[in-house]
Amino acid sequence: MAMIQWFPGHMHLTQKAIAERIKAIDVVIELLDARLPGSSANPMLATLTQGKPTLKVLNKQDLAEPERTSAWLAHFNAQPDTRALALDASMAAPAKALIKACHELAPTRGGMAKPMRVLICGIPNVGKSTLINTLVGKRAAKTGDEAGVTKLEQRIVLAPDFYLYDTPGMLWPRIIVAKSGYNLAASGAVGRNAFDEQEVALELLDTLKTHYPQRLQARYKLDDVAQMTDEQLLKAIGAKRGALRSGQHIDMQKAAEIAIYDFRANALGRITLESPEEFAQWLAAGQTLDAERQLKKDAIELDRKIRFKQIPRPDRRDGPC
Ligand code: G4P
Repeated sequence: MAMIQWFPGHMHLTQKAIAERIKAIDVVIELLDARLPGSSANPMLATLTQGKPTLKVLNKQDLAEPERTSAWLAHFNAQPDTRALALDASMAAPAKALIKACHELAPTRGGMAKPMRVLICGIPNVGKSTLINTLVGKRAAKTGDEAGVTKLEQRIVLAPDFYLYDTPGMLWPRIIVAKSGYNLAASGAVGRNAFDEQEVALELLDTLKTHYPQRLQARYKLDDVAQMTDEQLLKAIGAKRGALRSGQHIDMQKAAEIAIYDFRANALGRITLESPEEFAQWLAAGQTLDAERQLKKDAIELDRKIRFKQIPRPDRRDGPC
């Protein structure tokens, strides 16, 4: 299967904005999708934020499996200079928890002379606008929606001595883990035209079959899904949900859209697509592949340079008069 790569706009603008702002930042909040905390992280962020203390916020916890969310929180909390908490849009006042966690990460900051300066980052669709809207209230959020305004850095005053900075545009990771691409697409983070729904649905069903077989069986009234191949499962979902083309053929595209939609809408219950251990394995394999690809690329480039050198060049003195 092809690797999903997608690059939303404003990447350079965002990178520049973060690099400039980071000098005067005490804590970085990285918003993650609690259903895919590994895949929705951005490895580029650690470089850009120069090892500043980080608060990982696992957002949309209402959609994720609580046990796996706990495992991810423990995983992040064990990392140096890192705290993690889980949130969702239904929480009326998330500011208190965020402020407390930031003070734990940067205990010397606070008070009007040394206000806490926090930068919030996250990949598209992770819920950053929703969270900021909740934090600032509806009226202030409307101002940010006007054309031109969204391109500016926003400073949100959460308390007299607590500033939250929001960067413009998006910071999208270079995806080196194929499974991360599929999980991001299933979650809704990738633009609709940038992936093949059938491929994404097959990968999603593969994960669900392994970790949540009973949910699939209950939702689509199927027997023992573990015995089915991913294609058979997608076909069976299409048949059960009336996704048919003329001649009673299963419309696999429609079936794929149904499976993805049901996952996003929580129709299968609270699901997390990856555990810290699984993600660590995918990442290690992805890094090995990426290094091999880079070596091949370097070898081709070196070969090209050598050949170029060997091509006899006309002596300039013999050139046309
Ligand atoms: P972004 O700024 O990071 O791009 O994300 P945004 O806040 O626009 O949120 C993306 C979608 O996620 C929105 O759905 C929003 O309602 C939903 N969302 C945000 N936070 C939460 C949460 O904690 N729990 C749940 N269940 N949903 C959340 P939408 O408006 O329907 O957009 P879409 O689904 O059509 O993308």
